[in-house]
Amino acid sequence: MAAELHLVLVPLLAQGHVLPMLDLARLLAGHARVTVVLTPVNAARNKALLEHAARAGLALDFAELPFPGPSHGLPEGTENLDMVLDPSLIVPFYDALWQLAEPLEAYLRSLPRLPDCLIPDSMSPWTLPVARRLGVPHLVFHGFSAFSILAVHNLEKHGIYERAVDDYEMFEVPDFPVRTVVNRSTAPGLYLGPGMDRFRRDMLEAEASAEGMLFNTCRAMDGEFMERYAAERGHKMWALGPLCAYKSDAGAMAGRGNRAAMDAEQIVSWLDARPPATVLYINFGSVARLLPPQVAELAAALEASGRAFIWVLLKETSGLDAEFEARVKDRALLIRGWAPQMTILSHPSVGGFLNHAGWNSTLEVVPYGVPMMTWPQFADNFLNEALLVDVLGTGIRSGVKVPLTHVVQMDPMPVVQVGRESIASKVAELMDEEEGSTGAARRAKAKELAAKVRAAIAEGGSSDTDLKDMLGYIAELAKKKKVGDQN
Ligand SMILES: *[C@@H]1O[C@H](CO)[C@@H](O)[C@H](O)[C@H]1NC(C)=O
Ligand SMILES: *[C@@H]1O[C@H](CO)[C@@H](O)[C@H](O)[C@H]1NC(C)=O
Repeated sequence: MAAELHLVLVPLLAQGHVLPMLDLARLLAGHARVTVVLTPVNAARNKALLEHAARAGLALDFAELPFPGPSHGLPEGTENLDMVLDPSLIVPFYDALWQLAEPLEAYLRSLPRLPDCLIPDSMSPWTLPVARRLGVPHLVFHGFSAFSILAVHNLEKHGIYERAVDDYEMFEVPDFPVRTVVNRSTAPGLYLGPGMDRFRRDMLEAEASAEGMLFNTCRAMDGEFMERYAAERGHKMWALGPLCAYKSDAGAMAGRGNRAAMDAEQIVSWLDARPPATVLYINFGSVARLLPPQVAELAAALEASGRAFIWVLLKETSGLDAEFEARVKDRALLIRGWAPQMTILSHPSVGGFLNHAGWNSTLEVVPYGVPMMTWPQFADNFLNEALLVDVLGTGIRSGVKVPLTHVVQMDPMPVVQVGRESIASKVAELMDEEEGSTGAARRAKAKELAAKVRAAIAEGGSSDTDLKDMLGYIAELAKKKKVGDQN
């Protein structure tokens, strides 16, 4: 019965959003027929996953819509937000994205049978009018933590964004289960930049009129916040995550995302030679770009720490002196470009993860029980940091106070977000294994949470139960629609 369902997933075309959506696609494809709406460049990038699904006998395919970027001033082939390096092209990128509504509708109408449900990313709300015109149910997928979504919702509802005199006035998130202090720069919400109002309006409208919402989280992580949000919005909500944790085979893990800049085997054999929990893994994700003076400061701290580390750098990173790599080569691996992150995080030699606290990376580390040092950069990062440090107790703050988006404008604020001494002492605290230390306690908490999260996605766990409930709900909607169509 459920096997007859056809679900159409529409990610936001940013790699940090596409990957979780593909994870969702794989998961749902075990229960229904699934189509993911992409563009040619994004489809080509993620082809490996499709081949993998085909080998596993899953009914999963891509619909490739041509991307109208060039007619909005974007270079040919620029079809993913992480390819947009010029900030003035961000709004045109979203405009082009919004233009996909028409080809999507034409594609769906061309199918022998309309799909049973559209599942867009919350940031791809341009699908709502299509769903309405076709009479297809619409469930919104949230790729952010429920903690951050609820915080922003409450701030907005209480008019705090308008009331704040500037981006730095501190305020407490109202009606929140835990005391959380933020400012506009650290809790900015989505689509709040100049020229983005219309995207934001569409997003809120699509959320308000959806038939339900899915979260890439699990109840052990921020279920309490999701429940509150569900009560606020009067919607059905399901926590299906962490979606990245369902697949366990090495090939799928290593094949996630772009082509890796270094062989997974090479990294694994380097890690195999290290004692358990001794390697610090550093990756700020595919978007954040540390300024050169900060890169130099971090490098100095890592060098002084004497610890083994793997540092993933974006190709264009500058700020390292020419001999740095040679000086640390006995105990460090520098990867320039995309890294097979889950392969690394799942290795027992990794004992700490320094990272920007993006939700996608957070979900990738939690199932492996590795404690985190949080270095928030923008968007939801500071709120995720609060969840990890203040609620879950699995993270330690690096001490970043100002997001990257503000650090440059904010003279006389130094361009260095955190100094070398401070980084070095936090690294020592993070990696500390001595019995009775706060480091050991944090590690134990991380392991505890990992066990809960793994239980959630196992048969009969909370995420598995939510998934089945959601599929039942979609089947119910489909049945009602069929009866309605016949009358
Ligand atoms: C903004 O809020 C953060 C907490 O989210 C705080 O750590 C920081 O000090 C604040 N920034 C300024 C400049 O006051
Ligand atoms: C998403 O996950 C990949 C690893 O699969 C990671 O390298 C990347 O930084 C993440 N993207 C964001 C935006 O967090």
